[in-house]
Amino acid sequence: MVLPIYLYGQKVLRKRAQEVSKVSPELTKLAEDMLETMYKSAGIGLAAPQVGHSIRLIVVDVTGEDEEKHPYVMFNPAVTVKKGECVAEEGCLSVPGVWADVERPETITVESLDKHGKKQVLRNIEGLLARCIQHEIDHLEGVLFVDKISATDRTLNEGKLKKLSKESKSVPA
Ligand code: CO
Repeated sequence: MVLPIYLYGQKVLRKRAQEVSKVSPELTKLAEDMLETMYKSAGIGLAAPQVGHSIRLIVVDVTGEDEEKHPYVMFNPAVTVKKGECVAEEGCLSVPGVWADVERPETITVESLDKHGKKQVLRNIEGLLARCIQHEIDHLEGVLFVDKISATDRTLNEGKLKKLSKESKSVPA
C-alpha cells in the first residue's frame, strides 16, 4: 500500500522517533508499505516519520533502475563507527524541489534489526548507501538535510522552504 508522504513543515518530521521494542507483523507490513511508497516516488530511502509514524524504522535501496532491487529494512538503526568526511548533493521526498550539498562521514558501520527482528550489521559501508542511511537516521532525530546545508544554499532555497511549510500547514496531519 502506498502511503502519503509528510512534507517539510509538518510536526512529525521534527520529533525524536521512538525505539521499536519488538518487530511485530504490523511493523513488518509498515516497512513493506514504506518500500512500496519509496519505489513509487523514485526515492532511495524513507524514514517512518515521513509517513507519519514516529518510530525508529528506515528503509533504503540505492540500486539503479535497471539493477536488481536490494532493499534494506532497519529498525533501531545506529551508526557505531564513522570515518572520513565527504560532501555530496542530497534531496528528500519530504522536501521536494530542494537539492544541496551536505557534508557527512564517508565510511560507517551501522547496526540495526532486520525485518524479522534479527540483528544485522553493515560494516564499513561507503558511497551512496552510507550517505542515504545517515540521511534517514537523521530523520529519526527530527533532523532534515536542509538543516545541514550551507548558508548560501539555505538563502537560495528559502523561498521554496517557506512555500512548502505554508502548504503543509494547511494539510491536516
Ligand atoms: Co529525507
